[in-house]
Amino acid sequence: MAPHARVGVAQVRLSSPMSNSQPFDTDELRSSFLDFFVARDHRLVSSSSLVPEHPAAPLFTNAGMVQFLPVFFGEEPPASPRATSSQKCLRVRGKHDDIEIVGRSSSHLTFFEMLGNFSFGDYFKAEAIQYAWEFLTGTLGLDGERLWATVHTSDDEAAGFWQELVGLPGERIQRMGEDNFWEMGATGPCGPSSEIFYDKGPEHGEGGGPAAGGEERYVEIWNLVFMQNNRLENGGLAELPKRNIDTGAGLERILPIVQGKASVFDTDVLRRLIGSAEELAGCVYGRAEEDDVSLRIVADHARAV
Ligand code: SER
Repeated sequence: MAPHARVGVAQVRLSSPMSNSQPFDTDELRSSFLDFFVARDHRLVSSSSLVPEHPAAPLFTNAGMVQFLPVFFGEEPPASPRATSSQKCLRVRGKHDDIEIVGRSSSHLTFFEMLGNFSFGDYFKAEAIQYAWEFLTGTLGLDGERLWATVHTSDDEAAGFWQELVGLPGERIQRMGEDNFWEMGATGPCGPSSEIFYDKGPEHGEGGGPAAGGEERYVEIWNLVFMQNNRLENGGLAELPKRNIDTGAGLERILPIVQGKASVFDTDVLRRLIGSAEELAGCVYGRAEEDDVSLRIVADHARAV
């Protein structure tokens, strides 16, 4: 998932987030994702520790793919060619560092759960795109008209699949450079990616899609990484032994969308922690933006700790 610039967090409810009526709670959202992929032959894998073991891993687990490093590098065979997990992640310092934007963004957290599906030399771009679309518009019932996709500037294939396989109109497929090339860290597995964004609506910012529009308006909800390269210490790119899929969808980011809330901080877990911070600090959430930023930071950091 890519960072957004600093912006104020609007306290505005989303309108008509879903085309069906029943919102999901946190546990239902997590299990609906995992069940969806288990039903499509993915092995259910538990979240690994926030402190990874592999020598190439970052200090803290920053993505669902970290526990699969030995498989991506070809050091170990996969227990199954497909896997799914809900991975606890921490993004503080390192290549993926969200700590400075937390509190000023409606969607960034230092600690979060990343929902993922993985293919180890099994399916590739076409299936990853179709699965993501089917889950979002079918299982979750999100309105497909609000979804946008970005692909790497060089990736005609992924752009074609979005248009031909799921019928996303060409004007809602945008191309980006380094934002659509995901890397675990300074070295390690990486590859071109395709990100899926949800349009919260014009009250949240300028139109123009994720490449040009308001960063609080277009929320990145899922990153599909076509994990085929290894970034070397000399900066060069090598091929991984196989072409893999590594996807990451932010559980806490999708939750406000399916619940019609404006921000991750308005969903149950974070809002409860903000409530505790309000009591301790003697201030009320929603009255002054700078106090709200502080309360959100306390809630996020307390949860991460
Ligand atoms: N590794 C990718 C990310 O963190 C997809 O999970 O965005």
